Amino acid sequence: MSEGGSKYFCSECGYETVKWLGKCPGCGRWNTFIEAPQEPSTQFEYRRFEGTTRPPQPITDIKAKDAARFKTNLSELDRVLGGGLIPGSVILVGGNPGIGKSTLLLQASSNLSRDYGSVLYVSGEESVAQTRLRAQRVGAISEKLYILSTTSVESICQYVSELKPRLIVVDSIQAVYKSDIPASPGSINQLRESTAQLMYLAKSRGVPIFIIGHVTKDGTLAGPRVLEHMVDTVLYFEGDGQHSYRILRAAKNRFGSTNEVGVFEMKTDGLVPVTNPSEVLLAERSRDTPGSVVIASLEGTRPLLVELQALLIPAGFGMPQRRTTGVDYNRVSLLLAVLEKRVGLSLARQDVFINVAGGLRVNEPAADLGIALAIASCFKNRPVGFETVAIGEVSLGGEIRAVSHIPLRISEAKKLGFKECIIPRHNLKDLPEPCDIKVVGVERIKEAIKVANIRE
Ligand code: TYD
Ligand code: MG
Repeated sequence: MSEGGSKYFCSECGYETVKWLGKCPGCGRWNTFIEAPQEPSTQFEYRRFEGTTRPPQPITDIKAKDAARFKTNLSELDRVLGGGLIPGSVILVGGNPGIGKSTLLLQASSNLSRDYGSVLYVSGEESVAQTRLRAQRVGAISEKLYILSTTSVESICQYVSELKPRLIVVDSIQAVYKSDIPASPGSINQLRESTAQLMYLAKSRGVPIFIIGHVTKDGTLAGPRVLEHMVDTVLYFEGDGQHSYRILRAAKNRFGSTNEVGVFEMKTDGLVPVTNPSEVLLAERSRDTPGSVVIASLEGTRPLLVELQALLIPAGFGMPQRRTTGVDYNRVSLLLAVLEKRVGLSLARQDVFINVAGGLRVNEPAADLGIALAIASCFKNRPVGFETVAIGEVSLGGEIRAVSHIPLRISEAKKLGFKECIIPRHNLKDLPEPCDIKVVGVERIKEAIKVANIRE
């Protein structure tokens, strides 16, 4: 390619080519390519910094530095980070606009500044007065918390060298720009170059940086996915507008386990970590409702009891409706087919609605049995026991397959006062001795329906 020519990037996954493509070979999406003029890259500077000057050394001679972690004192955030912040790490926090990213990081900044020293919160979207108002609202006023309203990466670097903060927050990466890159803020080139510069800043000063990024489906604005490859840790903040619960999920973590989740509740005075999510999620459950089943799902390493609800009504004209919230649509279709064929329930002419209470998403096969029981329970109009938890994967043949981490799931059920667990028979051998809760192992879906007392 000639020098100074253009490159194209997929705005979804960051795939790079020298010519425009309609379909991205990386992620398979259409019309996501954006032209980005080629510029001298700070990536180079960053790579040079990473210490290629040292000759190769035997791994046994290298000292492992287990750096002390900064605690944010937001227990759920620390948990997702793998126990706290590693100095020099760069953490991308993505999420839809309005989900609470700024609130979360403002709270974390203020806590950190109280314990460790000055923190620089760069707000590229809001004025300092707005940020002060928000901080007041969530009780995040601290003398060592410095607010800078700027969109220039250069001025961030300048103030960092003056202030020498222990933590930097950049809110948001879409708002900031480097003046020597002839592209507008939020463009793919600016995103990459600004992030590369911030990475350099973090690594050279050993200070952790949180970068906020809005996830947007708009093709002209690149989503933070492009940056996922560059940063150390990627957290996604999720939740729907109707519920106050927010889930913080680690999608990538160089310094901790991924798939760890933290649960928060958005209150009028900020985000509050929810340390007992199962209890909160089950609080509004009512007795003897056909179609309601509690499952023990696993989010990262944490068991979570959630209520699944199914509603079935005879369909009117045309195709029966199938709607799901919080569970996979295809999985529900599959379970309906299994119930029809292996149990003999005639569900073909039923409208089916499935919902996870509390606005959570459950993506685990271990939820299968719960979904199937909820459907059968509503169809037969017979409630599943109020103190019963169902765990298991359902195969196409109607067998109940074993799932992982049964002891963890059962102990959570026990902790919350449940009396009975219906689990895959193959999992019975994994149970701790003694197991002071009634555990029933089932092999087939038909048997599970009987055990759950749904069939006469
Ligand atoms: P915000 O942190 O600005 O979201 P983001 O930075 O991800 O765009 O949060 C905005 C929403 O949170 C807004 O709808 C109001 C709500 N909110 C509360 O409910 N309680 C609070 O204490 C605060 C600060 C915001
Ligand atoms: Mg914000």
